[in-house]
Amino acid sequence: MVAHSGLLTVMDRAARKAAPRLRRDFNEVQHLQVSRKGPADFVSMADKRAEQTLIEELRKARPDWRILAEEGGELPGDPDKPRFIVDPLDGTTNFLHGIPHFSIAIAVEDPNGSQGKPEITHGLVYQPLTDESFWAEKGRGAWLQDQRLRVSSRRDLSEALIATGIPFMGHGNFAEWSRIFGAVAPEVAGIRRLGSAALDLAWVAAGRFDGYWESDLKPWDVAAGMLLVKEAGGFVTDYRGQDMAMQRNQFLAANDGLHSKLHKLVANALR
Ligand code: IPD
Ligand code: CA
Ligand code: CA
Repeated sequence: MVAHSGLLTVMDRAARKAAPRLRRDFNEVQHLQVSRKGPADFVSMADKRAEQTLIEELRKARPDWRILAEEGGELPGDPDKPRFIVDPLDGTTNFLHGIPHFSIAIAVEDPNGSQGKPEITHGLVYQPLTDESFWAEKGRGAWLQDQRLRVSSRRDLSEALIATGIPFMGHGNFAEWSRIFGAVAPEVAGIRRLGSAALDLAWVAAGRFDGYWESDLKPWDVAAGMLLVKEAGGFVTDYRGQDMAMQRNQFLAANDGLHSKLHKLVANALR
């Protein structure tokens, strides 16, 4: 059993404050499905309201920190202090369609990390409908509530369940994704596209998925989840297997035993 730091408590509290309204709005969306106007405007309101609550809570606790939020963009603060990176609703398309799989993601980035470069130090992925709180602190491991997380121990691709994000209208590189899919799918036990990048990564950390790939994401989709995977003993790289995932906007995550096998398949497919 481990207690999280004061900062993680702030993040967890903020997510839990935003969650009840999101849950209510999600139930409402299921009713709106049948109306002719459709629930799209309603969902974008729910999204904005959740972000507002998160920002208020985070600001209350750390008034001088910057916040990068999906809807509101960059909110100013002290450039020498860390900043919060917030996705109030990851899995919007699921939410809109009444599919119960979405999350709130909050990360903290220290502008002067261990190598003098910006570094993610805290990450939280909270799933309002299951009340699961996945969290990680740099150097202190990854956790689901008070249970330590460890990536899966599967070593054979033939047993691996791999998550991905499929490009969609106006978003991502379908030709590239298809080549990777063509190389990976025949080798593994299954591929899933569940629709929340933050949860995909959290589930790699939790050993539910053995690996994950996706490109063209935003920092708020992946910042918290990447720390979760690393702190759970897994790897997150770009498609060439280098520590440049954010810079290249390519995310290849897997447990320690499968990452190099998966990376070889992906790198070959893109050659
Ligand atoms: C999306 C989800 C999805 C990923 C998309 C993201 P949103 O975030 O993370 O899994 O494939 O690229 O945009 O829009 O639901 O916050
Ligand atoms: Ca997102
Ligand atoms: Ca979002």
